Amino acid sequence: MTISTGKPVRILALESSCDETAAAIVEDGRRVLSDVVFSQIDLHALYGGVVPEIASRAHVEACDRVIDQALREAGLTFGDIDALAVTYGPGLVGALLTGVSCMKGLSYALGKPLIPVNHIEGHIAANFLTHPELEPPFLCLVVSGGHSHLVNVPDHTVYELIGQTFDDAAGEAFDKAARVLGLPYPGGPRIDALAEEGDPGYLKLPEPHTEGRFDYSFSGVKTAFLNAVNKLEMQGQPLPKADLAASFRRAVVDQLVSRAIPAAMESGAAKIALAGGVSANRELRRRMTEACAKAGLPLYMPELRYCGDNGAMIASAAYWRYLKGETAPLTLNAVPGLRLVGS
Ligand code: KG4
Ligand code: ZN
Repeated sequence: MTISTGKPVRILALESSCDETAAAIVEDGRRVLSDVVFSQIDLHALYGGVVPEIASRAHVEACDRVIDQALREAGLTFGDIDALAVTYGPGLVGALLTGVSCMKGLSYALGKPLIPVNHIEGHIAANFLTHPELEPPFLCLVVSGGHSHLVNVPDHTVYELIGQTFDDAAGEAFDKAARVLGLPYPGGPRIDALAEEGDPGYLKLPEPHTEGRFDYSFSGVKTAFLNAVNKLEMQGQPLPKADLAASFRRAVVDQLVSRAIPAAMESGAAKIALAGGVSANRELRRRMTEACAKAGLPLYMPELRYCGDNGAMIASAAYWRYLKGETAPLTLNAVPGLRLVGS
């Protein structure tokens, strides 16, 4: 079934899969009317990472507030909203459940349809907010705290997996390397900032051997990095943190770029998009810009505010599912291990 109303479709979405409680209203999948993100970073920083129980509780407290604020900023009321959307996976089960329960309650009370959204699909859709002219097909490099995937997007809501990591995700690797250097959570942005001042040639890190040509592996790089840091510490030497950060970032980005470009060429993709928290990485953005220019491939990257978790990307992804009439029953549950492709 395809829904065609002839008038703009406004979707109010809630995202609560990890440590951001976010609500946004987006029109026709591309025009952001409001976008509210409440970050819990301060609550978790003390523990060096996200504490699931603290995240769930903070989401419960923040859900209503971010939704109210999203309506106020857009100058709208619930009556102006056509559909609701919520992230139902992947993510932390308790965190997801708070968002799913909140939006099921609203859907029931307002009598409005609820669209279930995969968080990774949301990250991919963030590109439609920054580039309203972007249309599938394209190849997407999805790099977040939990995922490193190369995905073909032949059409809206259709995904084909071309490659993936078999161990750590790129963001996870950045966070672990940052921790080894004693940088506070969240590590990825910190290591990126520090790396700007360092020499990426300081430490040579190994190239991984992956089974598939477009697969990723970051655990070898991470272990070699950890060993190098331990050795320096045992020798009582001060850590050249900026050089170490730059070397680690170079190794991760080398791997990401070296697979993305050939994957696009071989799969016949005419354009490439980046998605996920790590797509904010400065070196990745620079290197992909250079490599795509050389290969003659247009590159699409979300603006920085849409790289990390936000509600607008969820509302955007929901739009194309809404057009297909894909709504959730009130029995919708959180699916922490939800996949983008396959089951
Ligand atoms: O997409 P995201 O906000 O949440 C998930 O869905 O996982 O991604 C968060 C991840 C974290 O691992 C964070 O350290 C990493 O993205 N990240 C970065 C940068 N900004 C965020 N990693 C490297 N460089 C950055 N600038
Ligand atoms: Zn995310």
